[in-house]
Amino acid sequence: MAFESKIRPITWENGKSKMIDQTIIPYEYKYIEITSGDDMFNAIRNMIVRGAPAIGIAGAQGIVLYAQEGRGKYNNIDEFKAYLLEKADYMATSRPTAVNLMWACEEQRKIIKNSCSDMQGLIKELTDKAIEIELDDINRCKLMGDFGAEVVPKGATILTHCNAGALATGGYGTALGVIRSAFAKDNTIQVFADETRPRQQGARLTTFELAMDGIPVTLITDGMCSYFMNKGMIDMVIVGADRIAANGDTANKIGTYTVAIAAKYHNIPFYVAAPLSTIDISIKTGAEIPIEERAKEEVTHINGERICALEGVNIINPGFDVTPNELIAGIITEKGILRPDYKKSIAEVFNK
Ligand code: MRU
Repeated sequence: MAFESKIRPITWENGKSKMIDQTIIPYEYKYIEITSGDDMFNAIRNMIVRGAPAIGIAGAQGIVLYAQEGRGKYNNIDEFKAYLLEKADYMATSRPTAVNLMWACEEQRKIIKNSCSDMQGLIKELTDKAIEIELDDINRCKLMGDFGAEVVPKGATILTHCNAGALATGGYGTALGVIRSAFAKDNTIQVFADETRPRQQGARLTTFELAMDGIPVTLITDGMCSYFMNKGMIDMVIVGADRIAANGDTANKIGTYTVAIAAKYHNIPFYVAAPLSTIDISIKTGAEIPIEERAKEEVTHINGERICALEGVNIINPGFDVTPNELIAGIITEKGILRPDYKKSIAEVFNK
């Protein structure tokens, strides 16, 4: 059963993209307009919009914005298409790890290559596709919610890492979508949210959107998860994903791997919730997933304020890690819950 979320992080309105600026939540909650392809590229790179499915939607919209800008600059449709294919490739590089972005840009590339329309007609086809990707994602999240809610025990306390919620998708969420659907059936469940350093998506975004929906949430810092698991206070873990390899190895926000190891040690089921667009069957294992390296200032600063870090200290800041498939109890998708052996269950779902 679906529990409606009021949050729509990115939509298409009157020929422009309208998105919630996620860099200022929870201090401010406001929409901004993105009106050019380059501004969309920067909004993705600077995480004004973030979360794997949401940046897929953003990428698809960004290509529409480039198409609108290019109209009138080209003498014929072939030149216009060549320009658009170049921009679609460029948009796909705005962030490297979440495969939904490349997937959505590829959907637009297919339209550009195969369309028989004139420039105006092609822009319409690209716009329709961007809207379809957004709305379709919400439906997929609700289906994941239905499947996932089945494995949430009555009165469970669920740990989550980062933000895999309405804010990270078209709306509703993947991991938080499962939690929303489970809460609609049993309002005694509750959530523990990891802070998620360095960008604090758990502290800033997950607590914000769960509180908005009245779902009980407790914020903990990243290092606390095994302490609460050891105390018997966590019943299951549900996280989202940025890219899943053909063998089930899963890239998600840095720190997820630590949570998965701690869950295994304490015999707590660790689930991943992700649409099929997050599964990259072109790569065999997680070792092939490109891991984004982000700015050092994300570690030394919070909201532009320096924290107590030694001036000039060496810093490395990978944005994601890869959880090996053997730590994952199930991958909750819009087609059902995939179980080990993932090489087999993933191949089966793609061949159906
Ligand atoms: O760097 P971010 O905030 O884009 O990372 C987001 C995550 O790691 C999410 O868990 C993932 O994208 C799944 S979102 C449904």
